[in-house]
Amino acid sequence: MLQPSFIVPRSVEWKDTYISLLDQQKLPAAAEYIRLNNIKDVWEAIQSLKVRGAPAIGITAAFGLALSASRYSETEIGLFLKRLKKEQEYLAGSRPTAVNLSWALNRLLKSCGNVQSVNEAKTNLIHEAIQIQAEDEETCRQIGEHALKLFSKNDRILTICNAGSIATARYGTALAPFYLAKEQNFPLQVFACETRPVLQGSRLTAWELMQAGVDVTLITDSMAAFTIKNKKISAIITGADRIAKNGDTANKIGTYNLAILANAFSIPFYIAAPLSTFDLNMEVGEQIPIEERDAKEITHIAGTQVSPDGVQVFNPAFDVTPAELITGIVTEKGVMRGNYSVKIEELFLPEPSV
Ligand code: MRU
Repeated sequence: MLQPSFIVPRSVEWKDTYISLLDQQKLPAAAEYIRLNNIKDVWEAIQSLKVRGAPAIGITAAFGLALSASRYSETEIGLFLKRLKKEQEYLAGSRPTAVNLSWALNRLLKSCGNVQSVNEAKTNLIHEAIQIQAEDEETCRQIGEHALKLFSKNDRILTICNAGSIATARYGTALAPFYLAKEQNFPLQVFACETRPVLQGSRLTAWELMQAGVDVTLITDSMAAFTIKNKKISAIITGADRIAKNGDTANKIGTYNLAILANAFSIPFYIAAPLSTFDLNMEVGEQIPIEERDAKEITHIAGTQVSPDGVQVFNPAFDVTPAELITGIVTEKGVMRGNYSVKIEELFLPEPSV
């Protein structure tokens, strides 16, 4: 694969005896890589948003399980697999909404489906985790290629949260078309919502796009309608944490607002996500578990209290955009439009054998 000449930051790397992780909580003040040495470190990094973004969470958890299992002392395969299952469940509980987490961990368990020995299982787990990351990089590029075709030169595109390189193996989902546009000297302007309460748009999206020299302008979430109108935004694109069978999509809180605005202004609203973000066990979006996080994310900004003592707080981290507000869903297979229930079913049909 041709490597771009500009910086596309990476967030997680397998280092054999530890996992190297870009601490996203410290961005943009510092781009610091920390070491995750054991499964507790991995659980804590995911829960505290040191790593976040659906595919990146899945990749980090997969590395975490493989790392932990590589040190199990069990020599009997049954006991080994029992412990593996327990740790898989532990990591799967670190965050509830992004389905890529359980998807990646399930893939690791499956890689041990037919193993005969503990050594074989340990090797398979590491290979599978590395493979998940490699596939995600390729998938994100493909998503970027399909998404870029949706835009015209000099378009101004609005996004929220961070569905970028550091939220995936590389390139991102919603941000992938902007990296590809950069490679091809195709002029686009990105407008990034700051994404209250924890500012992924401001701290992460603005930072990573600026690293690559992509034209990005930051706005607060409350400026979206005014900006769409006055800056002539031509489309909105966001990532996803879980997509139900009917196309209803959970993503960062505020995404639903943007979909309603897109509808009101008659501009397209796109979701960009890999197939690993679809959950065929969810018939409709209402079934998707929505994480509620600590009140302090709202009552405090950078450690300073900005709300009265004891105020009641509601802090859902995600919302669900109904399928009918989504113009198209971009996956590695192309752009789906229209009747998502039918299109999603077709997408997951087994490949015909030749
Ligand atoms: O709480 P976060 O930062 O993990 O939320 C992330 C998002 O909502 C992203 O848009 C989504 O995971 C897609 S990342 C390619």
